[in-house]
Amino acid sequence: MITKALEQLELSKLPILGKGVWGVVYDCGDGTIFKVTNLGGGVGNGREKIEREVAVLKSLAEVSFSSFAIPKHLNHFETTSRHIVLQMTKISGRRMSASELSRLTPAQRHLISASLTAALLELHSALRRIEDPSIRRMDDILHVVESSRYPFTPADLARVDQAIRLLAKRALPTTLIHGDFNISNILLNESLQVTGILDFAETCLGELEDDLVSLTSDLPGLEHALLAAFDAGSRPVDPLKYSLAAVKRNLIGLVLQRYHLRAESEALISEEQLDRALQAATALEPLPFEHR
Ligand SMILES: Nc1ncnc2c1ncn2[C@@H]1O[C@H](COP(=O)(O)OP(=O)(O)O)[C@@H](O)[C@H]1O
Ligand SMILES: [Mg+2]
Repeated sequence: MITKALEQLELSKLPILGKGVWGVVYDCGDGTIFKVTNLGGGVGNGREKIEREVAVLKSLAEVSFSSFAIPKHLNHFETTSRHIVLQMTKISGRRMSASELSRLTPAQRHLISASLTAALLELHSALRRIEDPSIRRMDDILHVVESSRYPFTPADLARVDQAIRLLAKRALPTTLIHGDFNISNILLNESLQVTGILDFAETCLGELEDDLVSLTSDLPGLEHALLAAFDAGSRPVDPLKYSLAAVKRNLIGLVLQRYHLRAESEALISEEQLDRALQAATALEPLPFEHR
C-alpha cells in the first residue's frame, strides 16, 4: 500500500539534495529525505549496500551523539522499477566542497580538524559496540577484490600484492568503520563544526586509519592539522596502518577506474592468479606471485 502511494509520488518534483553513481537523494520537505538507489547503478551490489546502510542505521538508532547527528531510518522498500527507496530523517548543515575547504585559514583548519576528529572518534566508539553479524561479515579489501571480476594488469596486481602482504602482517580488524568518510558524507555548520555524518552504505570492518585516509586523500590541505588533532587526542594515528590504508584506498580507486574505463587492452591476470591471491590473502600466507 505504502509502496504504491510512494511510487506514484512524482519524485522529479522534489528538490535534489545530492546525486551519486547509485542514485539520487530528494528532499521531501517534511524533515525527511528519500535516498533512491538504482539497483543497476555502480560497482558491487546495490541491494547489499542499502541493506548494510539500513542495518547500521537501525543499530545506531538509540545512540545520541554529543555534537552531531546521523539520519534515522524511517522506511525502505523496493519499487517495481528496480530501485530501492530509503526514507530517512534530514540532517541539518551543509556539504562543503574541497575547494572551499582548501581556502581555510590555519585557525579555521585547526577548528575543523578538532571537530572532525572528535566526531570520528565518537562515531567509532558507537560502531565498536555493534554486534550485528550481518554487518560484521563485510570485509574491506578482500571484498573489493572478490566482488570485482574485472581485468587486472600486472601493475594492479603488484599493488594488491603489496596491500595483502601488509595486511597479512597485522591482525585483521574486528571493528566497524564508516567506510566512506569523505567530505560529501559530512555536513558542517557555519562555525565549521560537524553537524552530521551520512551514508553508511560502505560500512565495513576496518581501522580508524582507513576512515582518516578517506578524508585526507580528499583534503590533502587538512592532513597535517587532522593528524595533529589525532595525536593530541586519545588515539594517535598508527603510521603503518595509515600507509596501509592509503594503499588500500588506491587499490579500490584502481578497481573502480578499471570498471569505469572497462580497459581491456593491457596484459591481464588470469582468474586463476586472482584466485590464488585471494586464497593466500584469506589464509594470511605470503603470496606466491610471479609479478614481483
Ligand atoms: N539524511 C540526510 N540529510 C541531509 N542531506 C542528506 C541526507 N542524506 C543524504 N543527503 C545529501 O545527499 C547526498 C548524497 O547522499 P548519500 O547518502 O551520501 O548517497 P550517495 O551514496 O549517493 O553518496 C549527500 O552528500 C547529502 O548532501
Ligand atoms: Mg555519499
